[in-house]
Amino acid sequence: MAEPQVEISPIEARQEKLLQPLEPSVIPPEKLEYARQIIDKDVSIKPFWVNKYKNEAAKNWNRFYQRNETRFYKDRHWIEREFTVFKENSNEGEQMKCLEVGCGVGNFIFPVLERNPHLFMYACDFAPHAIELVKKHDDYAQGRCEAFVCDLTKDPLTDTIAAGSLDVVSSIFVLSAIPAEKLEAAVRNIKEVMKSGGMLCFRDYAVYDAAQVKFSSNPGHKLDTNLYVRQDGTLSHFFSKEQIQELFEKEGFTTVECEYVHRETINRAMDISIDRRFLQAKFVKL
Ligand SMILES: C[S@@+](CC[C@H](N)C(=O)[O-])C[C@H]1O[C@@H](n2cnc3c(N)ncnc32)[C@H](O)[C@@H]1O
Repeated sequence: MAEPQVEISPIEARQEKLLQPLEPSVIPPEKLEYARQIIDKDVSIKPFWVNKYKNEAAKNWNRFYQRNETRFYKDRHWIEREFTVFKENSNEGEQMKCLEVGCGVGNFIFPVLERNPHLFMYACDFAPHAIELVKKHDDYAQGRCEAFVCDLTKDPLTDTIAAGSLDVVSSIFVLSAIPAEKLEAAVRNIKEVMKSGGMLCFRDYAVYDAAQVKFSSNPGHKLDTNLYVRQDGTLSHFFSKEQIQELFEKEGFTTVECEYVHRETINRAMDISIDRRFLQAKFVKL
């Protein structure tokens, strides 16, 4: 007898899709050209506002977490699938030491700690309210994790973490929140606390992502090349492969992998497809 067909609900189907690995970016050249034309036409807002938004980034992120608490981001279960280094424990019996920079409310650290008992996770963010929420989480446990407030662009991580002690660092949609002129300082700060041979796992927004096209289609958001401000005052930079590779290699990392990845999202109500484009990379400290 034939197996009865099991119908899956639209919500289940969507969750299923979100758990699938992203594909290499395959946006057709004509779509990329269309995006480029819209983005190139956009102009920056007045310098007074550019400086104000850049200077108030921490305050605006803190307000974001006061408003949204833990409701905004979903748990990042996909990170371990894409970055298998978190599952490794090369030295039997030795605790692997990791850091999540810009950890928000801990959507990555708690799932990864639960599944990998050999890990210790440091987690930092410059929004004090986010760190308060991490510390209130039921799974926040001494001996497994330590969360602290730190602005990566100016507060030395070595105030909390021993220099050269970390095996793995994750940076997930964080460097995009930092203006280009402060990125080198942030990467140098991270490098200080990593072991030689330690790995940095990176995913962030890529140039010509649909979100960038949307910003440029409604002028008034652009601060600098590929840098925009959202309605809530938080910043969003869109990286090219060349820019991110140059940034890390200049600071003493070697590139293991650096690729554009792609997800097509269908908005059924508006009958349009949206091309999300991200950059995913692994860098090793020399
Ligand atoms: C888009 S959220 C991503 C949060 C988290 N990594 C995740 O994937 O769910 C960006 C985070 O980076 C933090 N952030 C931005 N600039 C930072 C900086 N200079 N130093 C430390 N954290 C920063 C923000 O407060 C925010 O929590």
